[in-house]
Amino acid sequence: MSDPTSEFVGVNHRVANPARIYDYGLGGDHNFAADRERFEMLEQVDPDARLVVSANRGFLRRAVRYCMQQGITQFLDLGSGVPTVGNVHEAAHQIDPSVRVVYVDNEPVAAAHTRRLLRGLDNTAIVEEDLRNPEAIMSAPETRELLDFSKPVGLMMVAVLHWVADADVAGLLARYRSFLAPGSMLAISHLTDEHLPEQMGQVGEVFDETTEPVTYRPQSQADLLFEGCDLVSPGVVYTTEWRSEPHEAVHPPERAKIWAAVGRLR
Ligand SMILES: C[S@@+](CC[C@H](N)C(=O)[O-])C[C@H]1O[C@@H](n2cnc3c(N)ncnc32)[C@H](O)[C@@H]1O
Repeated sequence: MSDPTSEFVGVNHRVANPARIYDYGLGGDHNFAADRERFEMLEQVDPDARLVVSANRGFLRRAVRYCMQQGITQFLDLGSGVPTVGNVHEAAHQIDPSVRVVYVDNEPVAAAHTRRLLRGLDNTAIVEEDLRNPEAIMSAPETRELLDFSKPVGLMMVAVLHWVADADVAGLLARYRSFLAPGSMLAISHLTDEHLPEQMGQVGEVFDETTEPVTYRPQSQADLLFEGCDLVSPGVVYTTEWRSEPHEAVHPPERAKIWAAVGRLR
């Protein structure tokens, strides 16, 4: 993307942001020089940085397909990011174009590009909002128009909760669960430092000077986040291990840096 344009007045393009850093890592062009520089710094401390982001997107797509096999026809994608190829509605609409998707992101550049990408697609929308405000998201006109919470929903929180420092992240999940019908599916992926503390410490330092510092959570915290849900097989694993094809596996799996799981709400 050409750097600062009048379209993004109010966005400080000199400070990198995780949405745009991730977009660059995925090969997208909705990012600024500061984001590209930050990603290159990440690659210096983690040569697998591109693998980390593409493996996470791979999990997202497989999770969408899995939820659809379980009968899910509507998704709420929190922290949806810049709509680089392979996002939720693309994965879903390859199978069923009538699936409804509401994206949520609080990053203005990501939201603007998503709005543009979705133009003309009746069954998708973006709500520009902080995911820490579930009530605002649930009552947004776009959400109310597209999603029916009396029926199961696929709630995606993929590579986003590690940008939420809130100590009561489990309480936040409980607020979302209170809106969901039984049979709803919850997909979460989350950065962790538990197997590579030294390297992830350096990764954390790279993010310290972005708009959102990172908060790692271990796989053992998944129990808290998935309270009220039955985890589906294979449980909590690295992204590359979650229902992946053999060619998607990496060794050792902790190179993927992000754990992932999907649960069904009881
Ligand atoms: C690493 S990207 C992940 C994008 C997508 N979910 C995926 O996994 O491919 C994280 C996204 O979460 C968004 N985000 C971070 N904190 C957020 C918050 N409090 N509310 C809404 N979105 C947030 C960022 O702006 C960014 O677009």
